[in-house]
Amino acid sequence: MAFDVAGRVILVTGAASGIGAGIAEVFAAEGAVVVAADLFADRLDAEAHRINSLGLRGTVHAMQLDVTDAAAVERALDGAAAEHGGIDAVINSAGIFIDIDPHDIDTDAVRRVMEVNFFGALNVCSAATKHLIARKGSMVNLATGGLDRPLPAQLAYVASKAAVVELTRTMALALGSDGVRVNAVAPGYIDTPMIRRNYTLPNGELSAGWEDQLETYRSLSPLHLVGEPSDVAWQIVYLVSDEARFVTGQTFRPNGGFVVPR
Ligand SMILES: NC(=O)c1ccc[n+]([C@@H]2O[C@H](COP(=O)([O-])OP(=O)(O)OC[C@H]3O[C@@H](n4cnc5c(N)ncnc54)[C@H](O)[C@@H]3O)[C@@H](O)[C@H]2O)c1
Repeated sequence: MAFDVAGRVILVTGAASGIGAGIAEVFAAEGAVVVAADLFADRLDAEAHRINSLGLRGTVHAMQLDVTDAAAVERALDGAAAEHGGIDAVINSAGIFIDIDPHDIDTDAVRRVMEVNFFGALNVCSAATKHLIARKGSMVNLATGGLDRPLPAQLAYVASKAAVVELTRTMALALGSDGVRVNAVAPGYIDTPMIRRNYTLPNGELSAGWEDQLETYRSLSPLHLVGEPSDVAWQIVYLVSDEARFVTGQTFRPNGGFVVPR
């Protein structure tokens, strides 16, 4: 069977929500052992319970983790490897977005974004390296389509994701001879709580402007689509599978044609 990830141990960060939760579900559907990590234990437990109730071939194991805490990340990955007999892939989906006004830059906010998006991924890649060398596994890091088409308010966000892409490229070069592949995925607009946040009312409902915003996002795609988390997850299944054995150091763009670089 092609793209077979059944039985593989896949650690996904940011798995309580959006793309990370979608990745956990798709890998569980494909029979993987998913270690789902997130800062927010309650939301994570609920998501893991939801996925495990679907009767899929694989399983999801929830693990509370703050990816900015390097020591905790190392303990968590060592523990997961001991419990499940190793780790075959890590997928860094934990991330935050903070609007920055380039005319009045809030450097503390920029640092927070770098801390989670860049250092969080760095901590996981660093702690995962020995485990992935042992299994000739792979890493996948979430970047953003904003790298090709940035907005001014994304100053901190795109800087952090540019750093993630450079981490990906250098780790790929460094770990290739160990048989470890490292790639990035730079999605276009994916319908998740991250892009709904500015349109979410205190009662959890979406404000009137959301439908217009969704239409704006659709209009940026020649397919007239906004992505779903599974659109990103399937790309990652391929990247983790043996069929991608020749693929490393690359950035992939599941983006509905939002940008079409050469
Ligand atoms: N949604 C999009 O359109 C889009 C597009 C391109 C890239 N991305 C990237 O994809 C990834 C997932 O985004 P999403 O849209 O699913 O966002 P989301 O906000 O729905 O989910 C992000 C998850 O990361 C978790 N998280 C935040 N800080 C953490 C920390 N310190 N430790 C552990 N977990 C932490 C959150 O609790 C949350 O569950 C992010 O890296 C984001 O930058 C999203």
